[in-house]
Amino acid sequence: MLTSRKSLAYGLCFFASLAALPLHARTIDISTPSTSMLLDAKPGAPLEILYFGAPLSQNDITSVAASSAPREAYPVYGDFPEREYAMAAVMPDGNMTLRLCVSGEPSTETAPDGAIITAIPMADPQYPLKVVAKYRTYPGDDIIEAWVEAVNTGKKPLTLTRFDSSCLPLRKGDVWISTLSGSWADEANLLNEPLTTGMRIIQNHDGTRNSHTSHAEVMISLDGRPHENSGRVIGAALEWSGNYQLRFNTDPGDWHQFFAGMSERNSSYTLRGGETLATPPLALTFSSKGLGGVSRSFHRWGRRHRLAHGDTPNPVLLNSWEGVYFDINEPGMARMMSDIASMGGELFVMDDGWFGDRFQRNTDNAALGDWTVDTRKLPHGIDGLLKTAEKNGIRFGIWLEPEMTNTMSRLYQTHPEYVIQAASRDTVKGRGGTQLVLDMANPKVQDLVFGIVDTLLTRYPAISYIKWDANAPIMQHGSQYLAAADQSRLNIAYHRGLANTLTRIRAKYPDVMIQACASGGGRVNWGFLPWFDEFWTSDNTDALQRVYMQYATSYFFPAMAMGSHISAVPNHTTRRSMPIKFRTDVAMSGRLGMEIQPAQMTDADKQFCKKAIDIYKKELRQTVQTGDLYRLLSPFDGKGASALMYVSENKDRAVFFMYRTDNSYGATVPRVAMDGLDPQALYTVTEINAIDRKPLPCEGKTFSGAYLILNGLELPAAHDLDWNDRSDFSSRVLLLRKN
Ligand code: DGJ
Repeated sequence: MLTSRKSLAYGLCFFASLAALPLHARTIDISTPSTSMLLDAKPGAPLEILYFGAPLSQNDITSVAASSAPREAYPVYGDFPEREYAMAAVMPDGNMTLRLCVSGEPSTETAPDGAIITAIPMADPQYPLKVVAKYRTYPGDDIIEAWVEAVNTGKKPLTLTRFDSSCLPLRKGDVWISTLSGSWADEANLLNEPLTTGMRIIQNHDGTRNSHTSHAEVMISLDGRPHENSGRVIGAALEWSGNYQLRFNTDPGDWHQFFAGMSERNSSYTLRGGETLATPPLALTFSSKGLGGVSRSFHRWGRRHRLAHGDTPNPVLLNSWEGVYFDINEPGMARMMSDIASMGGELFVMDDGWFGDRFQRNTDNAALGDWTVDTRKLPHGIDGLLKTAEKNGIRFGIWLEPEMTNTMSRLYQTHPEYVIQAASRDTVKGRGGTQLVLDMANPKVQDLVFGIVDTLLTRYPAISYIKWDANAPIMQHGSQYLAAADQSRLNIAYHRGLANTLTRIRAKYPDVMIQACASGGGRVNWGFLPWFDEFWTSDNTDALQRVYMQYATSYFFPAMAMGSHISAVPNHTTRRSMPIKFRTDVAMSGRLGMEIQPAQMTDADKQFCKKAIDIYKKELRQTVQTGDLYRLLSPFDGKGASALMYVSENKDRAVFFMYRTDNSYGATVPRVAMDGLDPQALYTVTEINAIDRKPLPCEGKTFSGAYLILNGLELPAAHDLDWNDRSDFSSRVLLLRKN
């Protein structure tokens, strides 16, 4: 009986199209070890989603398929305009209704990297638009990626005015979302909120860097307030480095709908005949073990399939930025290299300020684009620096901002047509009053950017690390390369061009390490990271604020990729002062590094860091960077402390971190239960970076995993120090070794 709105939609699909195709259910189970998605690809009907959650037995698949409330897997605009939708199109004749019905047999293939890809073809029965829904899994990993590829199968152009990657219906109940948002130097604030009526939109329209204001990842807790270790949680991450929208729509009725995709704002996409638009994957996962289960799935998948060299822990480095800013010179660099080498560091990265000939890079207003070494500052050039690095037994890395230029640069003066600029308009300038963004939509600019890296790495093959920065948004909508009719493609074409360039770089230079930096944490996104080894979490290196930032960032991103540096006090951003122990303990919970002028450190602080770096490399790094993360106490919960631990895959080793976040005199810290350990095993406790006058009572003692999981350890709130050495800060790092 075609009475409800939903069955009307079906009726429209059947009626119009498919006399030839039989009408029967075609259940498709897309499964990973902990997540399952059940679809019904009934030929001639809209694709439906029957289930998303924990894996199902064969028996339950049959019963769920027969009894669940099916929802459209990819709703489209037109026949019921009041409904929220994933895709909208304007057909060549101006028709604004779109209908998509399953139009053929689903297929499955195994890609060269081992991924299993299921493709379900859909088509508009009357118009030449085909949309293939795709799903990708990797054996043994818990992420299902979903996206669509839209093809204009006709000759005349048609325009997509919305093109989400996917849609997920969520049964109403007590559904909460957890999101990360912030701004420069204040990245990754955690927000937990219940879904209520109306539309909740998470979006970013920066143009180049998409994770400062809001992140394109979200946790969806289905059983009320989010918990770390319990409750059903869906994790979703849009793998797209450009403008995006995540939308939660709640109409009257039993369901919320979650949509995710590239933003269509001023970006309508006209497909010429035969042309395809592939949307970026939405990575989805499910856990019945709370937020922590979802994070561990993202971390494992990210290390195995997304990060460059995700199987190899990253080195301890010194980055020159906060140490010297633009004041680069040869003796200064040599001194920093010998200092970090003497503290046990493995890599030195020379930040901004090393380049420029006609225009000098002494501040941020000149020379971007002119990537020739400034021999007034570095008379022996990069070769000289590489020799010094070699002499010190460390590797050498260098800063680049390849997508940008300044008006005061040879590049801009020779090629003004390479920058983003709207026709008949003056350019809008950014950092330093002169910074401009290169038009990555332009293949010549892509060649130029590839050439910047290629020239550098060909001339200096010993460079082993690049810090790839981006410090400006797209400040004006306009491409000098794209045709007038294609201007609305800019936001997408920029990132496609960037991706092509990075793919070329990686094809030629698979071994070089590359850091994704963008005014700090502006590019912490799974759409950008596949060409990168790690990211710079924030320009704010204040250890107390980093406790919060790193905790929230760990919702989706693994410690191995999270650049986390010991810096000077007072902190350059917040002016807060914290003891070297606190700064070091916080940095050790990620990819440890330094962001400081070692020449200005006291001998005692240097000694402290030297010991810490040594023990990090020998005893902690492998577990922190490749182990499973268990978050134990959230700083956002206001309990006066934060705690987390990493446990190695075989559970023979764990590293526990605890930080006091309430620095009032007399504040107490709760006792924190541990997690992830083998309950049957015995673990011996060793404090790392200990500073107290007496060892902790638990030092050297052995506890069962079961005891630690239930009770944790008794840890004092403050350090036991001479009065004059005391501070408001306290922190603990404990190594647990299985006997
Ligand atoms: C912004 C980055 O986040 C900093 O670490 C530093 O590299 C500066 N740019 C250099 O201009």
